[in-house]
Amino acid sequence: MRRIIVIANRLPVAQKDGVWVTSPGGLVRALEPVLQRVNGSWVGWSGDTDSELEPFEHDEIEQVPVPLSSAELDGFYYGFCNSTLWPLYHDAIVAPEFHRHQWRPYVTVNQRYARYAAQVLGDDDIAWVQDYQLQLVPGMLRAMRPAATIGFYLHIPFPPIELFSRLPWRQQIIEALLGADVLAFQTRASVRNFADAARRFADARVSARGELSWRDRIIKLQRAPIAIDTSHFDRLARSPQVRQRAMQLRQELGNADRIILGVDRLDYTKGIDLRLKAFAGLLEQTSEPRKYEFVQVAVPSREDVPAYQDLRSEIEQLVGRINGDHGEPGWAPVSYLYRSLDLEELIAYYVAADVMLVTPLRDGMNLVAKEYVATRITEPGVLILSEFAGAAEQLRSALVVNPHDVDAVTATIQRAAVMDRSEARARMQRLRRTVRREDVFEWARACLAMLEAI
Ligand code: G6P
Repeated sequence: MRRIIVIANRLPVAQKDGVWVTSPGGLVRALEPVLQRVNGSWVGWSGDTDSELEPFEHDEIEQVPVPLSSAELDGFYYGFCNSTLWPLYHDAIVAPEFHRHQWRPYVTVNQRYARYAAQVLGDDDIAWVQDYQLQLVPGMLRAMRPAATIGFYLHIPFPPIELFSRLPWRQQIIEALLGADVLAFQTRASVRNFADAARRFADARVSARGELSWRDRIIKLQRAPIAIDTSHFDRLARSPQVRQRAMQLRQELGNADRIILGVDRLDYTKGIDLRLKAFAGLLEQTSEPRKYEFVQVAVPSREDVPAYQDLRSEIEQLVGRINGDHGEPGWAPVSYLYRSLDLEELIAYYVAADVMLVTPLRDGMNLVAKEYVATRITEPGVLILSEFAGAAEQLRSALVVNPHDVDAVTATIQRAAVMDRSEARARMQRLRRTVRREDVFEWARACLAMLEAI
C-alpha cells in the first residue's frame, strides 16, 4: 500500500497545557484511519510561532511540524492567505489587498512546506496538499521530486476568471498548481473556473475528457465535495445526554415556538448581518414576535485581521439594535454567543433548532448544513440554505435562498416556521439520504482512488 503524506497549513494536533491533543474536525477524522493504515505522515504548522519541533508520533501518525516565525505568521497567514486569497476567492465580498511584502512570505513559507514534505516523501508515496494556503507547494514539490504523485484539494471556491485575473501573481499560482497530477475542487463551478484560468494564464489545453495537458504532462480535474462523519453525528444526536441538553436549551430559550439557529465562524463570507436583518423583518411583520427565538453562534476567527474586527462590531451593533427595538424586559429575540462550542453542546443546539439558517454569501461547501441534517432524527426541522454554498449542489431538498434578497429570506423563514410536518419530513428524509451516502469516508475514498490510479 502506498504511503500518503498530507501537507496542510495546520497539523491535525495542537498543544493544550503542554500535551498534544487531536484537533476536532471532519478532515482529521476522515484521514486519521487512512494514514494509520498506510503508515502516513502529516506535514503542517503546530500553531506556535518561533519554535522548532522535531517530528513526533501522535495517533500512530508521523507529525512533521513546519516552523513559522511571528513575522511570517503576519505576512503569510494574516496577510496573503487571509487578506488577499480568502476575500478574492470568496467573490471579493471584502476588497482583497495585494501587497508584494505579503506575497514574498507566501513564497518563502510554501517553499518550506515543500522542503519538509520532500524530506519524508518516498519514491512511491503520494503527496496530498490541502487548500489555498499552500497553492505553490505542488509546483515546488514537483521541482524537487519530478516523479512524485502529487494531489491538491481546494477547500474554498476557485473564483471566476474575472475575479482571479486581478491577482498580480495569477500566473505563478496557476503554474504551481499545475505541478500536481490531480486537482480536486468542491463544486463543478470551481472545476470550470480553474480550467478557464489554466487555459488563459498558463496556455494549458483542455481535453474532451476534462483533463488538462500542460508541458507534456496530464493533469486530472476532479469534483469531490467534502463531507462529514455522518454516523458520528447521528450517534451523538441520539445520546440521552444530548437529547436532555437539547430539551433544557429549549427551556432556557423561553420555550419559544420556533427556534431558529445560525452557526458560523465569524466571517464576512457567512452573511450573518443579512440573516439578522431578515430575522428583524420577520419580527416587524408578525403579530406574535415571542413565538420566535433566533440563536446565532459566532465562532471567533482570525481576530487579528481588521476586516474581522470590523465585522464583529457591525454584527454586535445589529444584535443590540434588534433586541433594543423588539425585546421586552426578560426577553430578547436574538441570543448571540461569541464562542466555540464543544461538539456535544453544538449538537444539542442542532437538535433543539426547528429551523437552521445557513446563508453564506459564498462558501466552498459549508459543513454546518450537513451537520444539521445528520442530527435530525426524531423531529424533521427545516434547512434554509444559500444558493452560494457549495452544499447547495447536493442538498437540493433544502429551502434554497439568495441571501442578498433579505425580503425573500424573511419570507422563507416564515414558510419554514409553518411548514407542515409531512413536507418537512419528506424534505429531511431526502437530505438525510444524501449526507449518509456521501459522507467524509466516501470523499476520502474518491480522492485517494484518483491519486492511487496515477
Ligand atoms: C476554512 C479553510 C480552512 C481553514 C478553516 C479555519 O474552512 O478552508 O483551510 O483551516 O477555514 O480557518 P483558520 O484560518 O483558523 O485555519
